[in-house]
Amino acid sequence: MLEPAFSIFYSSQTGDNHGFVLIFICRFCADCALITLKPLNSVTPNLSVNMNSEQIKNIKIRKLDKGAEIPYHLLLLADPSENAINRYLNNSEIYIAELKSKIVGVYVLYPVNDTTVEIKNIAVEESYQRNGIGKLMLAHAAQTSRNKNFNRIIIGTGNSSIGQLYLYQQQGFEIFDIKKNFFVDNYPDPIFEDGIQCKHMIMLERKINASG
Ligand code: ACO
Repeated sequence: MLEPAFSIFYSSQTGDNHGFVLIFICRFCADCALITLKPLNSVTPNLSVNMNSEQIKNIKIRKLDKGAEIPYHLLLLADPSENAINRYLNNSEIYIAELKSKIVGVYVLYPVNDTTVEIKNIAVEESYQRNGIGKLMLAHAAQTSRNKNFNRIIIGTGNSSIGQLYLYQQQGFEIFDIKKNFFVDNYPDPIFEDGIQCKHMIMLERKINASG
């Protein structure tokens, strides 16, 4: 049987968001790597966007207007249950991150009591993730809560959400509780992330006061 002379060795998205770099390795000698650019944006609409610092500066975060359409498609990235989302939305404030009036992120602030507020939901549109918008929204949530005289902000995430746990601790949150089997008991289907079952809710807190 004839074998192809080249095999695709690696493909990766290009920074300008207009295609993929495909590296073909010749099967006769692995030295002659051939790099070609192939426009794929028509078939791969969900490419990630690499934002530069100017674009990041143009991100505006504001409270969602009363009666405006709720960006459920984003909220569902953080919480797979629309019923659960609707339960906390009633008593919460919704904030959106916009880039030139396109909504690219959302977070939800829920007052737990007079001193503590919870970020019930935080999400960034998939193609805009890993550009620092999550960090911006966490900082905005802290400042908003401080302005409203809360002195503690809490957030919960699954045991399998390693990136999120990293991000929250990097932003000054510390683990204070674990709600054992929260996701097993409250969600109809098992949830897996990167092969790890999401069973427990890890609760993190950050003290907020005038200085930080
Ligand atoms: N994997 C690994 N590290 C991550 C990840 C990830 N998925 N997400 C964030 N990080 C870490 C990285 O260290 C990252 O810095 P780096 O890219 O320089 O390495 C750092 O956090 C900062 O990330 P940001 O770019 O500010 O975060 P982003 O804009 O992607 O927003 C968020 C983070 C909100 C978690 C986003 O990835 C997302 O929407 N995920 C899907 C929904 C979700 O899981 N939401 C949180 C659920 S918990 C809750 O809602 C209360």
